[in-house]
Amino acid sequence: MTLLSSIFSSHKNEDHISEAEGVVGVDIGSSSMKVVELQDRKGVVTLTTYGEVQLGPYVGKKIGESVSLGARQEQEALVDVIRESAVKARNAVFSMPLSSSFVTNVSFEADPDADLSAMVRVEARKVIPASLSEVTLDWAEVEITKEEKKGNENKRNILIAAIQNSALERYKILMQFAGLNKPPTEIECFSTIRGLYSNDEENVAVIDIGANSSKLYIVRKGLLMRMYRIRAGGAIATEKIAEVLQVSFEEAEEMKLSADRKSSNFSELKRVYDGSYDRAFREFGQVIREYEGRTGVEFNVIHLSGGGSLFPGTDIHLKEVLNRDVTMVNPFSKVAYPAFMQDTLREIGPSFSVALGAAMRGFE
Ligand SMILES: Nc1ncnc2c1ncn2[C@@H]1O[C@H](COP(=O)(O)OP(=O)(O)OP(=O)(O)O)[C@@H](O)[C@H]1O
Ligand SMILES: [Mg+2]
Repeated sequence: MTLLSSIFSSHKNEDHISEAEGVVGVDIGSSSMKVVELQDRKGVVTLTTYGEVQLGPYVGKKIGESVSLGARQEQEALVDVIRESAVKARNAVFSMPLSSSFVTNVSFEADPDADLSAMVRVEARKVIPASLSEVTLDWAEVEITKEEKKGNENKRNILIAAIQNSALERYKILMQFAGLNKPPTEIECFSTIRGLYSNDEENVAVIDIGANSSKLYIVRKGLLMRMYRIRAGGAIATEKIAEVLQVSFEEAEEMKLSADRKSSNFSELKRVYDGSYDRAFREFGQVIREYEGRTGVEFNVIHLSGGGSLFPGTDIHLKEVLNRDVTMVNPFSKVAYPAFMQDTLREIGPSFSVALGAAMRGFE
């Protein structure tokens, strides 16, 4: 189902994944690392464990800050989160952050028998902000609607994905260090989509609010059509709260995480929080409308994901800006788990979309 699932085929796991042993999905976000482990129990994909570790403290920063780790600290964090959450699986699926990747769409005209691959390389050179020799490139042709063609039958839509070779190399060493078997690797947008896609939804827009960036994915029939990423997220919101309310980053993060509608400063906190997303949400709205206008496709529901979406009322704020229904994702609903965990998993679900979606790849 995942578009570009062949991506980085040289890194694909050639050994058969033995599902009985479980598969762990790994998500390296800018503020925290998450893992979700799944196992096939008599044909039912079942949650065995999950966990998260905050990355800030590994580089002397605060919890909630978005950071870039050195290779050593990254290794330490991964080993810690695997140990703390008691992950046993040695089979992994690794989800790479969009920050070390590049995903975009191009459209051009090509005869039915044209050498698309050569044409894509020419286009890729124009849009990828690095030399093609420094990246691993993958692409796929995606559906084009009648409206988009405007009568031009030769018009093609291509989704291009690239990742820096240096990042790939670093992650490969990271996985080896943690004792994970040659994991298949994909970019986080594809993991997220797998983690929430259901067959009965033809057209879906997904918004992932992370710590450092918020991403919009436009998805049709489970395939990514368009990606848009903007610098807005939980860490930036915390900075804003600290600045306006004149408190430290730590205090602001704490206020944000424990925000309670009943508390006296809630409305001020919320005003500052929402304000830090205004521009991002407006731009998402523009991108969605532009896409709808061009393709004739309609998006009635937006799925909301990412830790930043957990602040009370973020779904309602987004709904007001976009003027569309917004639903919080519940990725754990895709798998079986003990009944007593239901409430917790529903609450934290949006943080684990990427890791869960990655792990699910092991069961396709
Ligand atoms: N209950 C909550 N209320 C408000 N904010 C929250 C809550 N839980 C987590 N967050 C915020 O969500 C952010 C982390 O989200 P997430 O884990 O999705 O980001 P990430 O994957 O590390 O970052 P990115 O996707 O940008 O690389 C942090 O800023 C954190 O403060
Ligand atoms: Mg993330």
